[in-house]
Amino acid sequence: MDLHIGLLGCGTVGAGVVSLVRRRAGKVADMTGSRPVVKSILVRDVSKDRGVVFEHERLTQEPRDVLEDEDIQVVVETIGGIEPAKTYILQALSRGKHVVTANKDLIALHGPEILRVAAENHASVLFEAAVGGAIPLVGPLKENLTANEVTDLKGIINGTTNFILSEMTTRHIDFEEALDMAQSLGYAEADSSSDVDGLDAARKLVILSSIAFHTQVHLSDVKVVGIRHITATDVRYADELGYVIKLLAVGRDHGGELTLSVRPTLIPKVHPLAHVSDAYNALYVRGDAAGDLMFFGRGAGRMPTASAVVGDVISLVRNLKLGYVVSSPNGTMSYKPVVERED
Ligand code: NDP
Ligand code: HSE
Repeated sequence: MDLHIGLLGCGTVGAGVVSLVRRRAGKVADMTGSRPVVKSILVRDVSKDRGVVFEHERLTQEPRDVLEDEDIQVVVETIGGIEPAKTYILQALSRGKHVVTANKDLIALHGPEILRVAAENHASVLFEAAVGGAIPLVGPLKENLTANEVTDLKGIINGTTNFILSEMTTRHIDFEEALDMAQSLGYAEADSSSDVDGLDAARKLVILSSIAFHTQVHLSDVKVVGIRHITATDVRYADELGYVIKLLAVGRDHGGELTLSVRPTLIPKVHPLAHVSDAYNALYVRGDAAGDLMFFGRGAGRMPTASAVVGDVISLVRNLKLGYVVSSPNGTMSYKPVVERED
């Protein structure tokens, strides 16, 4: 039996999803009895070359071809930004469709509302791809590490800025040239200022901290400094002194009080985070039972991100077969004040 997917957006990530769903469909059918098939794809311009050859998938500029199609059980959102993505996701959920999204802006800002609407409609929302590209972070924090009191999150969670800083350090190119490269490689957001000014990393820190610390963190809680002002001279001086500059996201739970920040940080060259180059991401997590863990992998790009999106789709297919709804909110939430403190 086919499980029909509706795709919203077919850019860097969406086109990767189309090819990866095709590549894995047979295996998923063998495992679950349901073959995932992308049926309709919403875009702005149906004539654009997307680096993927469409077979049975139908491109459309009409949202209701996805949102009102009774055959479509799963909607994958890869448009990005708040609107119209939010409206489309809420419409899909209110029709009982399950949603997979890579949209950290939306989950960071409107996650609680989206999860509430999902729960009201017995539908699932999964968003592993919203943080860390290919690296499983949401799942481990939500599921595998729930036996822990997580106290520390620290790492590099924006691929574009890490790529820029790495290129400035190793190839001595300037900021603008490195940003152009990150854009042409598909790492940057449609509005790259959200990468460069630290907002993308801050949104991801909101998502991770809300899950890890069992509370609701807001974007305004995060102290954010981006990398726009970092010059080739800064990078060179850091290098001479035995450091590299990285955009570091840090979330700490100091016994019920949180500190949250994203800022350029001098990292000693001997530290493992200093070796995270290109668009790779890495996150340290400290749990009271697990101790220290480090997650590492490709944090951006077409196929790494498609890996996380399609992983969520396959989880859904499996869980639908078993009759589960998997969009659990954070479980028990408590209020934790966010304080200003130098770590
Ligand atoms: P792109 O800009 O490459 O693709 C966006 C797609 O959405 C395009 O196909 C575009 O259509 C379509 N679109 C935009 N606005 C509308 C609209 N109003 N109606 C219908 N279709 C629309 O973005 P990415 O693929 O890079 O990113 C998608 C999402 O994934 C974002 O939330 C991003 O933050 C997230 N993400 C991206 C990663 C990456 O490495 N790029 C990694 C992890 C997450 P058209 O092509 O016709 O213009
Ligand atoms: N623009 C984002 C980044 C994409 O560079 O990390 C992955 O979320």
